[in-house]
This record gives sequence, structure tokens and C-alpha cells, in this order.
Amino acid sequence: MKPNIYLDNSATTPVRGQVFAIPSKPSFGNPSSIHHIGRRSKAAIEIARQKVADLFGVKAREIYFTPSATYSNNVALLGRARYVEQNGLGRHIITTGIEHSSALAPVKYLETQGWKVTILDVDSEGFVDERELTKAITSETSIISIMWANNEVGTLQPIERLAQIAKSHNIFFHTDAVQAAGKVKIDLNEVSADTLSITGHKLHAPKGIGALFIREGVQILPIIFGGGQEGGLFPGTEGVSEIVALGEAAEMAHADLDANQEYLRKLQKILSDKLATLPNVNLTGAMDPTKRIPGHVSVVVRGAVGEEIVEAADERGISISSVSACSGRHPSHVLKHMGYTHEEGLGSARITASVLNSVEECELAATILSEIFVDAGKLQARSDIAAKSDIAAKSDIAAKSDIAAKSDIAAKAVFATKADISAKANFALKLA
Ligand SMILES: Cc1ncc(COP(=O)(O)O)c(C=O)c1O
Repeated sequence: MKPNIYLDNSATTPVRGQVFAIPSKPSFGNPSSIHHIGRRSKAAIEIARQKVADLFGVKAREIYFTPSATYSNNVALLGRARYVEQNGLGRHIITTGIEHSSALAPVKYLETQGWKVTILDVDSEGFVDERELTKAITSETSIISIMWANNEVGTLQPIERLAQIAKSHNIFFHTDAVQAAGKVKIDLNEVSADTLSITGHKLHAPKGIGALFIREGVQILPIIFGGGQEGGLFPGTEGVSEIVALGEAAEMAHADLDANQEYLRKLQKILSDKLATLPNVNLTGAMDPTKRIPGHVSVVVRGAVGEEIVEAADERGISISSVSACSGRHPSHVLKHMGYTHEEGLGSARITASVLNSVEECELAATILSEIFVDAGKLQARSDIAAKSDIAAKSDIAAKSDIAAKSDIAAKAVFATKADISAKANFALKLA
């Protein structure tokens, strides 16, 4: 029987049973209403806010609920940029080439508005070089944005030290912690980030709910205008059920953090140990398993196209992902920044486990994926042979016509009559 194994948890996670049960509980009241039905909704939101705050060791009032991490990243970066502009501070921003589009696109937008942008390179494992960051800082730098964990290759940045560099220069520091939240310890008393983004659907809460941590006293101006909800930064009537579910998921992740991390590292090892032995497969991202998102395995399969691998895996009952679409043959911008060639980047695949996966599932998936990856390599070997014999055939034809041409010239020199020339042409035709 075909299995049904979901290993694409960096894309999104299933909502955990306990979290799922919650959304029916909160009151339907509008949290802005002052009657008791509205107040019940408001109270439910504040309990959830405390639970999210506890996951990061911060105050509840430093947590703002948002519709998703895309909103969190945009408001943190563009809202801070507005503050910078209003106060006549330097318009230079530093980020990395491996950020998620929701953190990179706002920076690109600022560039169109006259900001100077420095995009830091990363090394072959996806790490930002602390010296490069320090070197990039100028008297005009007012924002640094570096993701905590990369979604594609799983690398965890030395975020505490990077944030410290920003702090020591008195520069605002934002981090996208979407892939790290609930999987590794995030203590914002130790990491001096000013703002931090998360999203519910990567930690077993529903989609359509995120959060932004804004350190008390840090100024972010609104970029969306409406009511006064969430400090006026995320106006609009709150999705109470989703907020409550995020609070539940954060509480569960917090309570089980160490055990979950240990379990996910075990699943990660089962998957990566097997895949790393394949002749045409290379692991990507941080090689030290403890510097990766727990449960995250990423590879490039030589000779394969990521999208085709994903389809082959899907046919055999395993859901994984790739950033390379065979239609456009566009490899990932992340791998490109890590120094991978266009060809290497095409064969990327990402296999990401969650605590809802079993050991048996990961063992079976590792076996099936190994077969698929090796087959993808064989296909390439066959097309290599085909390409070689194609080249050989072409050079054979070229050689033959070269002989024909030469014998044509030679014949012309020897035979001067029309009859002789046509005889030669026949000879040349036969050779071709
Ligand atoms: C690193 C990272 N940042 C931001 C996002 C965007 O999150 P959302 O879907 O909540 O907008 C994602 C989602 O894939 C992500 O992986």
C-alpha cells in the first residue's frame, strides 16, 4: 500500500489536535466591544498574547498579533524605515541574500525609494560572516535585517552575536524567526533583536495568524492605516480564534521544547544519514547538525530537477519540496548566494519533519527517497551518454563533410572537366 508521509513541515505544519479543538471556545464577540461578550474575546486574546510572550521570555505588551509573518516582516522593516525617514537618520540598510521574499522584497522596495542597500553574502553553508557584517556598517546604517533560520537550507545563524554587533553600533536589528520559533530556544533577553517575526502555521497553529515582537521603547510607525487594533500597527478586527490557537501552539511548543528538539534531531539523523551516502547527493546548509533547524534536511541531487524529484516522491506517497521549478528552471536564490552553480541549484530538495512524524515514517521515507534520488542520477547518466554519442555523431558528420570538402577541392584541382566535377559531387554526397 502506498504510504502517505508528510515531510514538508518547513512549508507548513498540520494543526495539532489540541490546538484545533480551541477555536470553537472563544466568544464570537468583537474584542473592541465593551459589553461582556466583547470583553470575553479581548480576554482570550490577552491570554494568548502572554503565551506567545512566554515562548520568547518577553512581556505580553511586546507581542503584536498580525495576519501572517509576511505582514510582520513588512511592518517591522517599512515601519522602522518610516521612523528613520521622519527623524532624518541614515538611509542605509543591511540584509543578506538568503532572506525569505517577505523580508527581502520590502528592502528592495526601499532601494527604489532611494535607500542604499547592502546585501551580505553567506558562506557555502549559509552562514553570515560576522566580520563582513561589521565591515558593511557605515555611519548611515540604520537597519540590519538577518533571518534566524533559513527556510531552504535549514542553517541557524549565530543570531545572538549578529544582533550584538548591531546593538554595539546602536543600530535597529530585525530577525525573521519563522522557521526557528518553537523549534529552538529563543530567549529575547539573550538576543538583543529589536523586532522578531513568527507565523502560526509553521508551529502547528492555523494559517492566517502571525506575530511581531517589538521591544519596548523601539519605534515602529504604521504602514497600514485603519483602527487602533494591535497598537494601530495591524489594524482590523482580530481573528480571535486564530490568535487563541497560536497561543495554544506557542504554549505547547514552549513546554515541550527540549524533548521536541531531541526527537526532531533523531528524525533529522535518520533522513540525512541515509541520503548523505548516495553517490549523487550532497547535503546543503550547515553540516553541523546542531546548527540546523531540528528535523530539517536539505540536499542537491546531481543531475535532477527539484520539481521532478518532488513529483516522483509524491507518486510514491511522500510529500517533500524543492525551490526549483522545472518549468522555469530557476534555481533558488539562496543556493546561488551560497555559491552553488545554476546546474547544482536545479536539483534541490527539502525534507522537513515535525513532531507529528514517526521514526518508522522517516525510515521508510529515507529508503524510498534514496531510490528516487539514485534513479534521478541514473537518468542523468543516461542523458550524459546520449549527449556524448550525439556529440560523437555530430563530429562524425562534420568530419565526413570535411573529408568530402577536402576531396572536393583536391578533385577540382586534378579534374578540370564538368563531368569530373559532377562525379566528385556524387562522391561527396555518398560520404555525407
Ligand atoms: C523564513 C520565512 N519567513 C517568512 C515566511 C512567510 O510566512 P507567512 O506565510 O506567514 O506570511 C515564511 C513562509 O514560508 C518563511 O519560511
